[in-house]
Amino acid sequence: MSAPLVRFEGVTRRFGAEAAVDDVSLEIAEGEFFALLGPSGCGKTTLMRLLAGFEAPDAGRILLAGEDLAGVPPHRRPVHMMFQAYALFPHLSVARNVAFGLKAQGRARAEIDARVEEMLALVKLEGLGGRKPDQLSGGQKQRVALARALAPAPKLLLLDEPMAALDRKLREETQLELRTLQRQLGLTFLIVTHDQDEAMVTADRLAVMRTGRIVQVGPPAEVYERPIDRFVAGFLGEVNLFEGPDGCTGVRPERMALSRAEPKAAGRLPGKVAEAGYLGDRTVYVIEAAGRTLRAAQPSGGDAFRVGDAVWVSWPATAVMRLAE
Ligand SMILES: Nc1ncnc2c1ncn2[C@@H]1O[C@H](COP(=O)(O)OP(=O)(O)OP(=O)(O)O)[C@@H](O)[C@H]1O
Ligand SMILES: [Mg+2]
Repeated sequence: MSAPLVRFEGVTRRFGAEAAVDDVSLEIAEGEFFALLGPSGCGKTTLMRLLAGFEAPDAGRILLAGEDLAGVPPHRRPVHMMFQAYALFPHLSVARNVAFGLKAQGRARAEIDARVEEMLALVKLEGLGGRKPDQLSGGQKQRVALARALAPAPKLLLLDEPMAALDRKLREETQLELRTLQRQLGLTFLIVTHDQDEAMVTADRLAVMRTGRIVQVGPPAEVYERPIDRFVAGFLGEVNLFEGPDGCTGVRPERMALSRAEPKAAGRLPGKVAEAGYLGDRTVYVIEAAGRTLRAAQPSGGDAFRVGDAVWVSWPATAVMRLAE
């Protein structure tokens, strides 16, 4: 593998006694779409601010393309950060907000105009270039901020919750378009999100953080299917936990099968349907089985179970994930 674009080496950042970022080592490859996930306050924004140069590490080093960034001010780093609280210039029109980074790069007027149009189309704000930010909805403002961040095509783009203010449908569309754009332009993205689906659908790799530390890094499917501990398993989707004499294991709801007759599967429990929630493509069942509450997700359209039905819950040995505490 070629040298990584970004390399965190044992980076720590303290605020008082508390380490917001605690001994983080992480590599991000050029052209990668990398997502940071974790609960509120776990250090995601701080990690990004360290890379952008708005914070300095108390320990460790950050390298960009092999160069130590210590002492390099933010504006000298080929990194652009779109902040969680997207600050648009209130006195500038939408178009001039989007053009801002392009002007700073000294691009020609015609090129800037074309690029602004292209970016506004990408975020579905065609025709709104003449408005001022206070004439836009929250979701529209966020899309202007995204267009402004993308317009100069920075080599490394840091996006802190870039889609939090968008409604679900628009967010899902934008996620895939962002992915396509990133791939086409060969950019490197580091994105922070609270939304596990967003991380999984967009990222080549993701990192799950907890109290300043990175707990697990890997491609979404690997982290989802082989989480190392209960925290990661529960953070990235739902999981049924089983405590045994030799530790804790987990089974994802979609790996749980339901049947009326006793199955032959490796794991099985008789139970009763306590709740059924129809979600279109699948139905989620809550099953009371042997004194525990289990969740099972089944594709809709097959044999539907009703609340009160007696059922068997079963799972194959391959569905069992071994989880550290
Ligand atoms: N300038 C600061 N001074 C003191 N404490 C800070 C400062 N910035 C961040 N912190 C603390 O560091 C921890 C990590 O904050 P950070 O903003 O990185 O979290 P986050 O993961 O981005 O959370 P969220 O998902 O809520 O945005 C928090 O406990 C926060 O209170
Ligand atoms: Mg944050």
